[in-house]
Amino acid sequence: MNIAVFASGKGTNLSAIIRQVKKGSLKVNIALMVTDNPKAPAISRARRAGVKVVIITPKDFPDKKSFEAEVIDQLKQNNVDLVVLAGFMLILGPNLISAYKDKIINIHPALLPSFKGASAIKDALDYGVKLTGVTVHFVDEKIDNGPIIMQEPVKIEEKDSLEILEKKIHRLEHKIYPKAIGLLAENRFKIENRKVVIL
Ligand code: GRF
Repeated sequence: MNIAVFASGKGTNLSAIIRQVKKGSLKVNIALMVTDNPKAPAISRARRAGVKVVIITPKDFPDKKSFEAEVIDQLKQNNVDLVVLAGFMLILGPNLISAYKDKIINIHPALLPSFKGASAIKDALDYGVKLTGVTVHFVDEKIDNGPIIMQEPVKIEEKDSLEILEKKIHRLEHKIYPKAIGLLAENRFKIENRKVVIL
């Protein structure tokens, strides 16, 4: 299976995926890494690992539709079967989502449907929940909404600062994202209504 990892920032999830592929425990080919941010540290992580990088910046396109047409074109040229969002900060539009229906996944640093949005770790900490976690889910046209593939909890201790909680969440993300990708690569799932059944 050919995957494309989309990242706008640091790229620690990208590195975790690369590590498992190199170890042979995740049997996929990382066909390319796509970013909208020419300054993303994820770019050098990809290049160091020999992963092809494609930088597509929205400001070079007149509108979202043509930006997404270029993204789709790159995915097709590279025979991508699965799009893996790993800290990709743009909201995907309907053209891309329908072109890759049930073939785009995302990782979110909270237990969805709680704490949607871009500051989920801080929001959970500030709210005072005792338990948060990580969710891997399919991407549909609504934000942080699609069918849930995998979820794991993280306990929030009273002494946890934002920094500590972020560390705990990221450590868990790096474990479960490659696992979830592996399940999809082996085709060990079906979607019934909005429930993902692992086979
Ligand atoms: C992760 O926390 C992920 O849950 C969220 O964006 C962050 C990306 O981190 N969607 P990184 O760029 O992989 O380090």
